[in-house]
Amino acid sequence: MPETAHVDYSTKIPNNVGLMDDQRVLKALEQWHPGYLDWWKTMGPDGFQTSDVYLRTAVSIDPKGWAKFDYVKMPEYRWGILLAPRHEGRQVNFGAHKGEPAWQEVPGEYRAMLRRLIVIQGDTEPASVEQQRFLGKTAPSLYDMRNLFQVNVEEGRHLWAMVYLLQKYFGKDGREEADELLNRRSGDDDKPRMLGAFNEETPDWLSFFMFTFFTDRDGKMQLESLAQSGFDPLSRTCRFMLTEEAHHMFVGETGVGRAIEATCAAMKAAGIEDANDIAAVRKLGVIDLPTMQKKANLHFSLSLDLFGSEVSTNAANYYNSGVKGRFQETRIDDDHQLTNAVYPVSKFVSGKIKMVDEPALTAINMRLRDDYVADCNKGVERWNKVIEKAGIGFRLKLPHVAFHRHIGEFQNVNASPDGTVLGDTDWAKQKDQWVPSKADGDFIQSLMAPCWERGKFASWIAPPKVGIDNRGGDFEYVKIHQA
Ligand SMILES: [Fe+2]
Ligand SMILES: [Fe+2]
Repeated sequence: MPETAHVDYSTKIPNNVGLMDDQRVLKALEQWHPGYLDWWKTMGPDGFQTSDVYLRTAVSIDPKGWAKFDYVKMPEYRWGILLAPRHEGRQVNFGAHKGEPAWQEVPGEYRAMLRRLIVIQGDTEPASVEQQRFLGKTAPSLYDMRNLFQVNVEEGRHLWAMVYLLQKYFGKDGREEADELLNRRSGDDDKPRMLGAFNEETPDWLSFFMFTFFTDRDGKMQLESLAQSGFDPLSRTCRFMLTEEAHHMFVGETGVGRAIEATCAAMKAAGIEDANDIAAVRKLGVIDLPTMQKKANLHFSLSLDLFGSEVSTNAANYYNSGVKGRFQETRIDDDHQLTNAVYPVSKFVSGKIKMVDEPALTAINMRLRDDYVADCNKGVERWNKVIEKAGIGFRLKLPHVAFHRHIGEFQNVNASPDGTVLGDTDWAKQKDQWVPSKADGDFIQSLMAPCWERGKFASWIAPPKVGIDNRGGDFEYVKIHQA
């Protein structure tokens, strides 16, 4: 069967890439499948593998109506391989090969580069499932539990997406990399996941929402730039992944937004006007706004690290080779080769944070990070609208990009959220005001009691405006059956 918009569910591995006619890849994937299921059962959502979850499954790649909703036991979810449609006549749109026809096979000279990019992207997908595996137990509602599991099964599918590319286009090393993706573990000392933020814990639901807002958004930016790739199968894979990714960021933004809403409502009902009266607010069983700010500071800074060094010859090579572009590359009005262009980069120069013009080619990471920060800011403004509407005098704000960094220009700098450079002692003294302290974590943990009754929500989070698939907030999104 040729490539279609419709997904073929008659095979063990649903797909729209004509897998039945590609016995070599089908066989490789079928051999990988049991190991994947094993991984899902041991590292996926803990304790809910036999529950019926109201999940969406992609049945087509048509942007309208690609999903079907139904109760599914997660291990029976139909993880499939879905690529966005091929655009006839698509070209390499940037770099040294600009104007050549897009590649349907991996160019030999870029094989190692492409493999590395696909492996790094692939590694983040199972990592987040591992990070989130205990959260079901403290879900603040069945609605939220369902959203968590939806995100989890889709991250599983994203792993499939990358594994398909590895197995189809990279021969033996591709198969080895596919196996390794099932062997690394988030937070493991010996075999950690590849990137820092994906080895951190996601200990509570506020972390989960911040993670899906900030870290899945890094995922979006990476996928957007890989969707520009001259290697067409990678571009098409990422294009479809982006349609799923949008839901993950929705979960994060509305999750934090609903927590803010619950806090503001409780403050108003109790007549508390001062958002910084943390003790009084916490007594109401909601998360105070300054603690939300600290959580945002933490997740934002960890996510910034995922963009790599501001100035990077690797990034320049990826771009020049045509394998990884910029955010919305084709909409940018320039030569798409960056021969003489410069780009302002924030750097640490003789003890000061300064903007310095660098060759735009080496500043690709910085540019993508700037686009990311702008995207984050829009969401933060929507959170601020919720606070404003409640009439509370408090605003959330993204910290300075130099704050709390472990990679790039500012990794050895202590900077406050407003970008003031501090000595070690000052930093140590004030750090707890800016990132969550042990006590903050303990308090949030104390609110994480399961709330699994239909239509009920934990005290610290407001119900959603609308349900999933036009169902109400009181729909039985998960029929819990604990193994
Ligand atoms: Fe993903
Ligand atoms: Fe995601």
